[in-house]
Amino acid sequence: MELKSIKELLSSDQLLQEVGVKGWIRTFRSNRFIALNDGSTIHNIQCVVDYENFPENVLKQLNTGAAVSIVGTLVESQGRGQSVEIQVKEIEILGIANPEEFPIQPKKHSLEFLREKAHLRIRTNTFGAIMRVRSALSFAVHNYFREHGFNYVNTPIITGSDAEGAGEMFRVTTLDAKNPPLNDQKEVDYKEDFFGKETNLTVSGQLEGEAYAMALGKIYTFGPTFRAENSNTSRHLAEFWMIEPEVAFLDLDGNMDLAEDFIKNVLSYVLEHCSDDLNFLEGRLLEEEKSKPQAERSEMKLIEKLRFVTENNFKRVSYTEAIDILKNSKPNKKKKFNYIIEEWGADLQSEHERYLVEKHFKAPVILFDYPADIKAFYMRQNEDGKTVRAMDILFPGIGEIVGGSQREERYEVLKDKVKAMGIDEKELWWYMDLRKFGTATHSGFGLGFERLVLFTTGMSNIRDVIPFPRTPQNAEF
Ligand code: 4AD
Ligand code: MG
Repeated sequence: MELKSIKELLSSDQLLQEVGVKGWIRTFRSNRFIALNDGSTIHNIQCVVDYENFPENVLKQLNTGAAVSIVGTLVESQGRGQSVEIQVKEIEILGIANPEEFPIQPKKHSLEFLREKAHLRIRTNTFGAIMRVRSALSFAVHNYFREHGFNYVNTPIITGSDAEGAGEMFRVTTLDAKNPPLNDQKEVDYKEDFFGKETNLTVSGQLEGEAYAMALGKIYTFGPTFRAENSNTSRHLAEFWMIEPEVAFLDLDGNMDLAEDFIKNVLSYVLEHCSDDLNFLEGRLLEEEKSKPQAERSEMKLIEKLRFVTENNFKRVSYTEAIDILKNSKPNKKKKFNYIIEEWGADLQSEHERYLVEKHFKAPVILFDYPADIKAFYMRQNEDGKTVRAMDILFPGIGEIVGGSQREERYEVLKDKVKAMGIDEKELWWYMDLRKFGTATHSGFGLGFERLVLFTTGMSNIRDVIPFPRTPQNAEF
């Protein structure tokens, strides 16, 4: 007899056949009904036990969390709520779960409590649904790029360069922290370190990605990314996954088109393939929002919101226009923002980004042509001398989900820029080479995968959409 997944069994029309299934007990009630889940779907299969036929010691071990193997007959369900159920013939207890100790009981646990039990929280409906959606999204990402002629490139995780120039990096070293070798200036001598130089965990695969785009044409990376930002927010992780496409001969407009099409495509994929999980997550969100004041509740339900994004054009607005909107906005005039926008050149905080998206445009927004001073060294300078060909995509409830740009492809311009920003040109010798040999217009962007999962699942804390989150003071598991 073939072992079947619960997902297969629930959609099976092989009634009256003998089937086998293995999974974890969610509940066992009335000494008769096991709700069994194996992770293949959010739904449980009901297994009906004739308790007269089973020894007391087996029945006693049918506790929430226990792993069991069940053989029985698939029959049409007598009860409501499911189409088929299993009339149990044999039960084997594979692994017990002591009810006094197993923390995931059939009651409502807070997300905070579950974060402390990250190794077991996947046994709940909420986390099962999130992680299946996450997996589907990641498949959709690879699928999109494959269908559009991109090559997948694995850029290094240990690097010597600070791509974003933000200095928020984790050092990689084998030197003795207590007693490091010192040079003549009494500074740590990294020449004696493993790589003979200072190295860090990567903050972005972009620079190496550019080298590959300038040979393979269209590439993308999808890998772990590390930032030692000490920001304990609901949208920052110290270790997150970033998707970074990079395309030769593409300008900023093409880059915006690519990003918008890409996001719509992966969201359509999950709308089509994850409806059970999305329905569950939509209900969860409605429930959660009941405790919030009306003004803070979402205007759209989860699935409606995802559809809205796939069906409507993102608003494309220059930074300069956005500053005008913000300067004249009510919260700015009434000093409700924590950071009041006084003049052109101000960096946008997430309160501003969310005002633009949630209150003003009520749609995803692509902001472009930012002031050069608040953006990275590699972005292409505009003719005005003040702005660069940058773009950020802002999403409701999330803020920035994508950051990208057209790259500075002119050797001399880049050289001056690097110098003006106090970056060591020697460190970037190979990146400069790309501007010497066959340089051309090229563009790319980075999408924070967890922020995409956050948006798609309607969760509100980024710690809940990655299996084992790394944040300041927290690297458990
Ligand atoms: O805007 P960022 O810093 O852009 C880059 O790293 C570019 N090199 C990308 C490129 O052009 N190839 O980061 C890109 C995205 C952000 O928009 C955000 O979604 C996500 O990465 N991100 C984070 N996600 C979670 N935790 C953090 N600490 C993040 N920092 C950035
Ligand atoms: Mg950014």
